[in-house]
Amino acid sequence: MPSIGLKKLANPMPTEAPCLKVPKTDGEKTLTLANKLGLTDKTLIIQKDPTGLLCIPLTRKPEEKESALLKTQIPQLQLATQVFPEKIQQPKTLAEVLQNQLPPNLLEALPRALDIVGDIAIIEIPPELQTHKNLVGKAILKTHRSVRTVLAKAGAVSGTYRLREFDFIVGENKTTTLYKEHGCSYYVDVAKAYFSPRLSHEHNRVASVVQNGETVVDLFAGVGPFAVPIAKKHPDVKVYGVDINPDAVALLEKNARLNRVENRVYPIVGDARQIVNEKLRGIADRVIMNLPETANEFIDTACKAVKPKGGTVHFYGFIRLDETLEDMKQHFAEAVEKAGMKVESVSYAKTVRETAPHECQAVVDAQIR
Ligand SMILES: C[S@@+](CC[C@H](N)C(=O)[O-])C[C@H]1O[C@@H](n2cnc3c(N)ncnc32)[C@H](O)[C@@H]1O
Repeated sequence: MPSIGLKKLANPMPTEAPCLKVPKTDGEKTLTLANKLGLTDKTLIIQKDPTGLLCIPLTRKPEEKESALLKTQIPQLQLATQVFPEKIQQPKTLAEVLQNQLPPNLLEALPRALDIVGDIAIIEIPPELQTHKNLVGKAILKTHRSVRTVLAKAGAVSGTYRLREFDFIVGENKTTTLYKEHGCSYYVDVAKAYFSPRLSHEHNRVASVVQNGETVVDLFAGVGPFAVPIAKKHPDVKVYGVDINPDAVALLEKNARLNRVENRVYPIVGDARQIVNEKLRGIADRVIMNLPETANEFIDTACKAVKPKGGTVHFYGFIRLDETLEDMKQHFAEAVEKAGMKVESVSYAKTVRETAPHECQAVVDAQIR
């Protein structure tokens, strides 16, 4: 997430500074030593004098001890003072790029957060900036060199597939990209299958707690950000990845191959409830339930998937307004009991991210039997 400061750009003005003059052949050695001593002025551009000597700009005159060290290491070195041009700094923030193109109230309204998925940047454009969205998009291309496409959110995540609409702003008009996370690569199509880089920590955390030899059922697998790293980290673990969205499952299949875990990740298209009833009853040491909007309705399904001896469920839900994490744990425990099992312990419970004003996503890892 970029910071939107209002720092002024450095002017490319000539500045007088102390410097080290050395023959070109000693340039690298001198620079390394001057860097080690913390002497180099990196805001100024190294010059050549009329005799061909390199002039390395310094932030200050070297102390006696430092001069002695420099002269012992580089006998031909001379201390001097001269004028250097300043480096032109690349703009780092949207506000820096746009400071001469938007009035202060609109600079203040610039998006303070953006999601980067591979080479796609996804932003939320506030209403007052709608007429300037192209300008904002172009500024993002300038501040984020790896971004090729800028999309704006055009609605909330909705529907069974948990998708949202996007407006294309600038760059290459596309919604597909290659995204890398914790050593895994994913083909993502942000318009066709749910994906959020904001869950990156959770993807890695869950993969880290899986034990060797387990069978895992990911009830709402999406493009595979839980299933793929689990299989990659644990060569003797099998993961069933279920999703009702055929596009998500096609990407999961592709991602399993891309990460060379296609022999242990089993993508299945369909409704989690039906698939568990028909194919995955009592097989799981671990069940992942990342469908926070309606996961409550699938707790009985998770219980059916778990082995009779018990297993772990990673349950994601939303906490809204005055609800607490304790409430979420309690509702989960009640639903598990209703399904004929029991929560033996909760090994982890935490809010994961803010999803809206007065709403956050949370996770409960529970051992059930
Ligand atoms: C919030 S997304 C999570 C995807 C993935 N686990 C991730 O973290 O990126 C929820 C997924 O559940 C899928 N889904 C919704 N209802 C479902 C159902 N009844 N059975 C199986 N999958 C379902 C959606 O298509 C969506 O891909």
